[in-house]
Amino acid sequence: MSKVAIIGGTGLTRLEGLEIEGEEMVTTPFGEPSSPLVRGRLEGREVLFLARHGNPHRIPPHRVNYRANLWALYQADVRAIFAAAAVGGISEFMGPAMVCVPDQIIDYTYGRSHTYYEEGLDHVTHVDFTEPYDATLRGVLGAAAAAAGVEAHDGGCYGATQGPRLESAAEVRKLRRDGCDMVGMTGMPEAALARELGIRYACCAVSANWGAGLSEGEITMEEIERCLEAGMAKVRRILRGAIVRV
Ligand code: HPA
Repeated sequence: MSKVAIIGGTGLTRLEGLEIEGEEMVTTPFGEPSSPLVRGRLEGREVLFLARHGNPHRIPPHRVNYRANLWALYQADVRAIFAAAAVGGISEFMGPAMVCVPDQIIDYTYGRSHTYYEEGLDHVTHVDFTEPYDATLRGVLGAAAAAAGVEAHDGGCYGATQGPRLESAAEVRKLRRDGCDMVGMTGMPEAALARELGIRYACCAVSANWGAGLSEGEITMEEIERCLEAGMAKVRRILRGAIVRV
């Protein structure tokens, strides 16, 4: 039977409440994933958990082996993924610790291995990416948030930047003009690789800070960590409800 996975990001290296049944380090034709696949039960439902940045958190966004991560989950029969992601807020509804289930993405990353369609092809494939996030899984996240009494904005555009540095104020102004509601460093190529593998994928984004230039002074790691703690507590509640609904 196909399985469901959660990819945890910054602030969600472990999934509290997950009853761990096993842990497996796997290899893929694309190298090793960021962390072992943790097999367990959340609210009684089988789920796999992968820490995107490793556990402990040590792999920066531009060095994550996204192809290995997604392939490892695919090999394990995962056909639906909920991804948690820390972002900087750009639009009004994405203030610190606020949650959003984005429905669009713009890719500003570069130099990342971003496709499985690279070598030894017998034909060229262009996957459809009109709707980058799976509508059913997005609905599940929305319903789970409502049931848990957690405010989660339905829809928004995620701007995926290269990192690991944060943006300049002018870059955030440009992202806003482009229509981005939030900015993060890991949304791509993760979403596109999931699509190439035919894995349904949706994201639960948490604002760790206002994007550069949208609040007074510098953005500090302390501020990011503090807001993420509050935001990821909401995400955990949403994910528990999502797992039983999917
Ligand atoms: N920019 C990009 N990625 C982020 C940010 C940000 O401001 N905050 C958390 N992840």
